[in-house]
Amino acid sequence: MTDSEGGPKLTKGGGGPQEDDPGGGPLVVVENVNKHFGELHVLKDINLTVDRGEVVVVIGPSGGGKSTLCRSINRLEPIDAGTILVDGKELPKEGRDLARLRADVGMVFQSFNLFAHKTILENVTLGPIKVRKQGRAESEKHAMELLDRVGIANQAQKYPAQLSGGQQQRAAIARSLAMRPKVMLFDEPTSALDPEMINEVLDVMTGLARDGMTMVVVTHEMGFARKAAQKVVFMADGQVVEENTPEEFFTNARTDRAKDFLSKILTH
Ligand SMILES: Nc1ncnc2c1ncn2[C@@H]1O[C@H](COP(=O)(O)OP(=O)(O)OP(=O)(O)O)[C@@H](O)[C@H]1O
Ligand SMILES: [Mg+2]
Repeated sequence: MTDSEGGPKLTKGGGGPQEDDPGGGPLVVVENVNKHFGELHVLKDINLTVDRGEVVVVIGPSGGGKSTLCRSINRLEPIDAGTILVDGKELPKEGRDLARLRADVGMVFQSFNLFAHKTILENVTLGPIKVRKQGRAESEKHAMELLDRVGIANQAQKYPAQLSGGQQQRAAIARSLAMRPKVMLFDEPTSALDPEMINEVLDVMTGLARDGMTMVVVTHEMGFARKAAQKVVFMADGQVVEENTPEEFFTNARTDRAKDFLSKILTH
């Protein structure tokens, strides 16, 4: 695999062409992070490190704080205390640098969040043109490579509503990748999809992981976790309760809280 300029392939290290020294070591560092929504303490002293090229699956019961953690990592939610570093830098709270640094963190949501009145191609090129200040021709070329990579190059001129859910989610992944993020966050990317479309999205994500993208994935898809993740983080009640390899976590959970959760998702 080559590190071709603008190519859709991601080299091990995941940093992309603008990175000087990909290397190993932590890319995302979450340290003693606390967050409240009013009285509700939703993130309680969270510590989490994601190494370059690592895939971390975050799993846990509803309301545990998984989405809030993802949103905090790219500053969609402010935190009350602690630090979050992406590639050694703290995201600024606001201002011009925020948009640029936030673009280092790609995010894919459960609801695909595509712009309804723009074509798929326009959805994918918008960020690179507006935020990265990339030229249109270069942005379109890169966008087509990414759409090809997620298997929907032939849908480029359509509008989101004309695509299936699985196709829309793959477009959303291409749109995130177009910004050449250093890390990708996925918040339950398959839970709004019909069963037959789940695998086409998971396959794209597994390919990304294999190519070395650094990823944080909130999902209950155990097959994906076993295949693609190096680490599973179990979150409940705003805390990281357990952190382990997928194999150990799914076969040998240490805490009652995790065992109880697993027994529910395994039998539903
Ligand atoms: N904007 C908000 N304002 C107030 N409370 C919120 C807000 N967003 C989330 N919460 C609360 O924070 C807690 C954590 O929510 P979060 O969405 O992070 O959980 P989650 O683990 O992602 O759950 P799920 O599995 O259902 O997606 C919940 O109690 C939720 O009700
Ligand atoms: Mg959530």
